[in-house]
Amino acid sequence: MKITKICCIGAGYVGGPTMAVIAQNCPHIQVTVVDLNTERILAWNDENTDNIPIYEPGLDAIVAEARGRNLFFSTEVDKAIDEAQIIFISVNTPTKTYGKGKGMAADLKYIELCARQIAKVAKDDKIVVEKSTLPVRTAEAIKSILDSTGNGVQFQILSNPEFLAEGTAVQDLLNPDRILIGGDTTEEGQKAIQALVDVYSNWVSPEKILTTNVWSSELSKLTANAFLAQRISSINAMSELCEKTGADVNEVAKAIGMDSRIGSKFLKASVGFGGSCFQKDILNLVYIAKSYGLNEVADYWEQVIIMNDHQKRRFSNNIVKTLYNTVADKKIAFLGWAFKKDTNDTRESAAIYVANDLINEHANIAVYDPKVSRKKILSDLDYLETRSSEENAGSIITFDNPYLSCENAHAIAVLTEWDEFVHYDWQKIYDKMQKPAFVFDGRNILNKAELENIGFVYQAIGS
Ligand code: UDX
Ligand code: ADP
Repeated sequence: MKITKICCIGAGYVGGPTMAVIAQNCPHIQVTVVDLNTERILAWNDENTDNIPIYEPGLDAIVAEARGRNLFFSTEVDKAIDEAQIIFISVNTPTKTYGKGKGMAADLKYIELCARQIAKVAKDDKIVVEKSTLPVRTAEAIKSILDSTGNGVQFQILSNPEFLAEGTAVQDLLNPDRILIGGDTTEEGQKAIQALVDVYSNWVSPEKILTTNVWSSELSKLTANAFLAQRISSINAMSELCEKTGADVNEVAKAIGMDSRIGSKFLKASVGFGGSCFQKDILNLVYIAKSYGLNEVADYWEQVIIMNDHQKRRFSNNIVKTLYNTVADKKIAFLGWAFKKDTNDTRESAAIYVANDLINEHANIAVYDPKVSRKKILSDLDYLETRSSEENAGSIITFDNPYLSCENAHAIAVLTEWDEFVHYDWQKIYDKMQKPAFVFDGRNILNKAELENIGFVYQAIGS
């Protein structure tokens, strides 16, 4: 099948960058990204590419190159579905907040809505690609909806999970470790797989494109995220032991990372992992394991989440304990709110939970993050439903200048590893703070000797 038109439902952190890179590398294919969120589409179409809704290094230039040529952002979902031969589903699949599987299972209502919409609109055969992370066997559900409500149209469902990490999305998309495509073993299934392989082959070398059955592909995504998160929880578990014993977790990480069987990546101890994927995908895995009665498997993976929650709580408890057991009415300056550097995404960011704990202790939190707005910070806190919106708004002050944010603070907590934090004039910050001036480095990025020399009381994770 010759692919000339692709549609992607969902213009978020996955759909937006992925389609921009496909469009850039396949000028002969028209790529249309649709979303129900009019505001988001307007922002994607903003003449000034600084204003696109997702911050990713390098993305603005790619959008500037391809937009209007063969990359389009639109709210006309039906039209885009109708015209495309391949439809990517990149809508969000958050953890369920209600009913069966609440707090664990993925909420598939957005996926189901997409499937129903495709079924309603499609007049000719389509390849439907699951891009969003989905629990194993979701493709089956999508297929059943498409086949039973469609207009006699043939659908092929492929699983093509996204492995990009936010903050490095463009590089990850341009030079992926691998592209994974799962499909039916039937002849039609194999043809659909080939059509998608041909799209990626425009810039990815063939040996990096892996094809499997649908279930292997779906489960590989959950497994990859579970393994990555497990490494962070493992090193974070060691960080607590290091603090008790006088070992330094950075030294331990370096020493074990040089073992080629272990490798050096994802061994950075931190205040805890965040992001839209790790927690959600592991909870999903746990839920699936439980639903098959595999309780030991479920417990094994659940421990990764328990460790992560413990690490966030331990960080806030330590702040309170170190500040003489009270932070009431004290100003605690947060450097960073995003779940990692180089993104404006805050989903599941450790900062949200640390702030929540400290507000419970009546602290005033002053936040500076180079890419996150006050509105987003407040909505993240409101989402926890710990207290009223008014109370949250009263406990959080935000600044667009880090020096003002730290003025008169009793302590600074580093929650995101933004590069700029390292280059600040720390003497200037010290001079304006309450004394003793504390720094709690939740990302182990600052220079301990330099800060202690100035006079700070500096604490990192795991040393
Ligand atoms: C992750 C996977 O890496 C990606 O392949 C998948 O497609 C989606 O989920 P992402 O959530 O964007 O990507 O970011 P990632 O770089 O994996 O970081 C997740 C969290 O772990 C961040 O909060 C990060 O700060 C933290 N982290 C990462 C650590 O605390 N220590 C580390 O060593 C690495
Ligand atoms: P991700 O990180 O998975 O990309 P996001 O929340 O950033 O998640 O993006 C998902 C996008 O999908 C949102 O912009 C949301 O408005 C959009 N979306 C959800 N359901 C539908 C739907 N039925 N039709 C079109 N867009 C949808």
